[in-house]
Formats: sequence, structure tokens, C-alpha cells
Amino acid sequence: MSEVTTIRVETADEYDVVIGREVLLDQLREALTEVDKVLVVHQPSLSTVADELKREIEVSGTQLFLAEIPDAEDAKRIEVAQFLWQIMGQADFTRTDVVVGLGGGAATDLAGFVAATWLRGVSVVQVPTTVLGMVDAAVGGKTGINTELGKNLVGAFHQPSLVIADLALTDTLDRKEILTGFAEVVKCGFIADERILELLESDLEATTNPGAPQFHEAVSRAIRVKAEIVAGDTREHGRREFLNYGHTLGHAIEHAERYQWRHGAAISIGMVFAAELGRLAGRLDDATVARHRRILSSLNLPLQYPANRWKTLRATMQRDKKTRGSMLRFIVLDGVGRPRVLEGPDQTMLFTAYQSLADEQE
Ligand code: GLY
Repeated sequence: MSEVTTIRVETADEYDVVIGREVLLDQLREALTEVDKVLVVHQPSLSTVADELKREIEVSGTQLFLAEIPDAEDAKRIEVAQFLWQIMGQADFTRTDVVVGLGGGAATDLAGFVAATWLRGVSVVQVPTTVLGMVDAAVGGKTGINTELGKNLVGAFHQPSLVIADLALTDTLDRKEILTGFAEVVKCGFIADERILELLESDLEATTNPGAPQFHEAVSRAIRVKAEIVAGDTREHGRREFLNYGHTLGHAIEHAERYQWRHGAAISIGMVFAAELGRLAGRLDDATVARHRRILSSLNLPLQYPANRWKTLRATMQRDKKTRGSMLRFIVLDGVGRPRVLEGPDQTMLFTAYQSLADEQE
């Protein structure tokens, strides 16, 4: 059997993240022993996996309801949550029944939200199937849906009872999906764990290959970074904000691109921006800024954005929910593994940082 790593997330209700290959069925079977009913919320591409879970787990007497939801952000709508509540209501789901979120970040965000709200909270087991979902969305208990006014405006902090990161489920992802998911892994490297950066620098192919031990190590390390930060600051009053490295500009780019860009592509540019800001603030050295560009471009992630979009991006950042008061806040680095908040940088500094990544061609 290949390696299995278990990371304990020490929030008020502690839980494990189990990382390995082909661990899903055994882990889920164990987690659902004695559970009466389970709602498996899954994206269309995972219907074969969901069918198999139903077949295998119903043998032991647990009843599985499968709910297929739309792909990506289309799932995070109140109508889809309503559809899931309807299934739970008709099947008489009680407080001891369980929701399983099977899929990418949108599926686990939605499943977590439905679990948080049904009868004021039932257990959710998260089964992320993308790199992004494994290292970010499924761990830490942020759940939610979007409204017409913005992303994640309605939600709850609701920690899962277990996260199963079955790396075999990433074997069939397209390469671009894996590489963009790695933007969040790189983020964890810069804010807390340099070994992640070294893995990518020494063997990018192996580190991004789901079957390789380096992939297991990089993903596990990124999960550990997230688990440790979340355990110390579940509701984002302090250190959890460090996880937003690259996200202030990244979210503004996602908004400008009407959420058609992959999250990792937007935060790649956001991290270059944050690194440049750190340099301009006299905190980060040139070599670490260059290291951002080198690693992100080796993953084929974008480093530039059109020069003429600055005003729009600045206005969106100003409105972003992560702005506290009227001050813009950025996470910058004093060095690898040394994140800090930079509050209210002046307009010249922001503009100068943007100039260093602005693409004049578009
Ligand atoms: N994705 C950032 C966080 O979970 O806090």
C-alpha cells in the first residue's frame, strides 16, 4: 500500500485530513459506520465514483442519496442549496445523518454550507478531488454560496468531521487544472514552508505528478500549513489572513474576468504583485521576488495583467470584503516563511508595484 499521511486539524472540534492513494472507500466506510443516511453531493464528472460509493457502502446498511450539482460556481447558488435541503427533508435527515462533499472547491463549499444549515448543523465529510480543493477549500471550515452581489457572501464556519484527500482522484485531472491548483501550494511554500518551493525547484515534473511521492509530499505539506494556521485562528481574526497571500489583487482579477479564470491563475499574478509590494516596502529582497516569478512561470501560471486595467482592479480591491475600514490590506513577506500585514500602502507604491507586472501589449 502506498504512503498514507494523517494531519490532525486542532480546531475546537478536531478532525483528520487523510492523504493517500485509493484511501477513499475504506476511510468513508469507517466514518459512516452506524450512520443511517448520507447525502453525497457531487459534480457531474464524479457520478461513477458516487455510484461506486453507493454500491459499496449501502451493503453495510447505510442509505446513500446521490445529488448531482452543476460544475464550478454554478453550484454555489441558493437554488442548488434549496434542492439539497429538499432531498434531506424528504428523506427525513436527522442530526446524526451526514453530508459528503465530493468534488472541487465549489462542491465542498456548497456541501459544507448545506451541512452547516440543516437542523443548525450536521456532520460533513469532505472529499476534495482537485489540488485546489485538497490544499485549500476542503480544509478549514469556510463554507458558503454566492449571491448576485458577490462571491461567498452567505456562509458559515463549519469544520468537517473528516477530510479524505485521495490522490488517485487527481490522476484524471487535466494538466492545466493540476498546475493552476499548485498556485495555492506555492503560496503555502512562500508563507510557511520553503521545502515546498525546493521540491518544485528540484523536480517540477515529479512534484506535479499525482503518482509521485513528491506530489504526495507537496500536497501534504501545503495541507499542514493550512491546518496549523486554521487551528490557531479558526475565524480569521489574525494569522488566518496570511492564507490570503496574493488574494487581494487575485480576487480583483477574478472579478474582472467574470470568474472565468481559474483561481490559481489569478492568485499567481496576485502573488507577484504582493512580492513586488514587499520589495517596494523595503522588506523583501530581489532574489525572493525573482523566485516567485521563476516558480510560478515554471508552472505555466501567468505573471502579467493588462496595464490599462489598474483603475478597475484598484476600485474592486477597495470594495473587497477583506478590506477592513477604508484601508487596503495586503499580506507581504519579510522573507520566505515570514508573512505580515501591510496596511494602507500609498497609491504610488501600489501603482509602481502594478507597473512591474503590467502587460503593455493588451
Ligand atoms: N482560503 C483561505 C482560508 O481558508 O482562510
